Amino acid sequence: MPDDTAELEARLEEQDEFEPPEEFVSQANVSDASVYEEFEEEWPECWERAAELLDWDEEYDTVLDDSNPPFYEWFTGGKLNASANCLDRHLDDRGDEAAIEWVGEPSDEDDRTYTYEELHREVNEFAAALKEMGVGEDDVVTMYMPMIPELPIAMLACARIGAPHSVVFAGFSADALATRMESADSEYLVTANGYFRRGDALDHYEKTREGLGDVGHNVSDVVVVDRLGEHGHGHDLESNEHYYQDLVEEQEGAEVEPVSRDAEDMLFLMYTSGTTGQPKGVKHTTGGYLAWTAWTSQAVLDVKPEDTYFCSADIGWITGHSYIVYGPLALGTTTMMYEGTPDHPERDRLWEIIEEYGATQLYTAPTAIRAFMKWGEKHPDQHDLSSLRLLGTVGEPINPKAWKWYYKHVGGEDCPIVDTWWQTETGGMMVTTLPGVNTMKPGSAGPPLPGVDARVVDTNGEEVEAGRAGYLTVQKPWPGMLRTLYQNDERYVQEYWAEYSDTDSDDPDDWVYFPEDGAKIDEDGYITVLGRVDDVLNVSGHRLGTMEIESAIVGVEGVAEAAVVGGKHDVKGEAVYAYVITEDGYEEGDEMRDRIVEGVEDAIGPIARPEAVIFTPELPKTRSGKIMRRLLEDIANDEELGNTSTLRNPDVVEDIQRKVSGD
Ligand code: WT7
Repeated sequence: MPDDTAELEARLEEQDEFEPPEEFVSQANVSDASVYEEFEEEWPECWERAAELLDWDEEYDTVLDDSNPPFYEWFTGGKLNASANCLDRHLDDRGDEAAIEWVGEPSDEDDRTYTYEELHREVNEFAAALKEMGVGEDDVVTMYMPMIPELPIAMLACARIGAPHSVVFAGFSADALATRMESADSEYLVTANGYFRRGDALDHYEKTREGLGDVGHNVSDVVVVDRLGEHGHGHDLESNEHYYQDLVEEQEGAEVEPVSRDAEDMLFLMYTSGTTGQPKGVKHTTGGYLAWTAWTSQAVLDVKPEDTYFCSADIGWITGHSYIVYGPLALGTTTMMYEGTPDHPERDRLWEIIEEYGATQLYTAPTAIRAFMKWGEKHPDQHDLSSLRLLGTVGEPINPKAWKWYYKHVGGEDCPIVDTWWQTETGGMMVTTLPGVNTMKPGSAGPPLPGVDARVVDTNGEEVEAGRAGYLTVQKPWPGMLRTLYQNDERYVQEYWAEYSDTDSDDPDDWVYFPEDGAKIDEDGYITVLGRVDDVLNVSGHRLGTMEIESAIVGVEGVAEAAVVGGKHDVKGEAVYAYVITEDGYEEGDEMRDRIVEGVEDAIGPIARPEAVIFTPELPKTRSGKIMRRLLEDIANDEELGNTSTLRNPDVVEDIQRKVSGD
């Protein structure tokens, strides 16, 4: 390494504050720090600025209705359609510009560009097909689709006719699909026959059929996108199943008037993991959610219509909903999506895409950055990434080392990084620097966004001093918030509000939202999010409930008891560690381990696959019989164990420790 590079590395390593690059600031959508004060003074009317980014069929009469906390309503009386906001209104100015740039797997020659005109046409055609199938306003349509353009098309087609969508990540198992369809009483499904991954044509149809077989109610229609064509697996469709391509062709040229939805009408459901085994159906509405995603895309991701904006998430998660589909398209920009993986055909796939398309922003996850780091800087270094103007991360805390690598090797030291904290439930970003305004501190997400009242408190709800760890809370509602858990208002209150609110009060000041994250705050008001404080793991930026995994394991023949905890992992952040007790007569060993792994993959999906399965004759329990998870976590992380004297069975600890360390 030449001397000056070494010096540069050393300087970077020591530096813990970074100023937004001047060139960026001079063109940023938001570059004036006064926005914080203005929003505070104007609250809640400040959110009209977000609503103004949208076209309303009817103006709202109230910005915030907080008469029945925590069932807040935003922009009440207003009417709008999300698909019209993402498509129709851009046709005059941007009709010939790309709305979606889709990069298929490189084995495939057919990368596709959809102009706004083309996207609008296909969304109309598919909306017409859905209507003809009998899908009515407020019918939930489930989507179980890989990263192909038909996924955002189907979402927008649903939005057009006022049918909420419920997208189930394609990597989830058949079981997971069935549970979600049942929970949402969803009678319609859009899926695909397969997708390409690392050069293989993977079958998705069989898994879909398996899932459908477990749905207790009648599913009236299934739409199958033929993604595989000649590489297909030769399935014949059932009588209530239709190929997407046929439906769209039959509707050629059809136009469907977008229905005017109340601001508070449901736009979609998204299931996410919680403490109990049952996934939670997070309900988002039309006005507040769309305003929130549009505003944050503009203020934080600095999206402009002429950009080619690239978020590498999967649309099956909230990041893809908010920041591949709704936010960017509401602003009329070009949004990118890709099929496959970042390491195929080579480990420079992302950098190649950025160079080829001239991407202006990259929004990705720390787990991906850590993998890129591991693969080496030669991959980004051999590409021209100078089109990039801004970088973002989301999903889990980012360690300063990964932050700096991203800053240097991807951003070339002249792109600001936004480390954005938010959740499925918040709809969009909540805590992050504004890239044209704030100093960046690697490892710390930053201050709450203007108008967001996030605070770090202790167990009594009192704000903690700078430097102290506590719990993250949000003390005022915001337009993008979830409205409830689908058909379960009670669980909504219990899960998110009960901890720090006076639940008997109807004064909104007595209501505090608890996201179940631990956090610290520094003297400048920067928040460092430490991670979940409930029994939810964050594996590669994805939320997995330990209970869900445990119940999958206990469902495996020969398993008596199981406890799942998170162990630290270089790339994934956290990995699944499963401690298992077998029933008498069953042998602990590879065969059993394989069946456990398979059981978890069947119940949830490969993302939940245990990193380690540790057989043990007993689990460490307190005298009252509670499993000591903290202890199991410490063992998984090879950390010094705290006090074990309260255990009923202290001997078991050493035995487990030996097994984990492999002695
Ligand atoms: C949980 C939410 C937000 C979309 C992707 C995940 C963790 C998220 C950060 C961040 C530290 C983060 C939290 C949160 N998280 N972003 N920038 N720094 N932690 O959405 O599946 O709903 O998970 O992800 O623990 O509660 P999700």
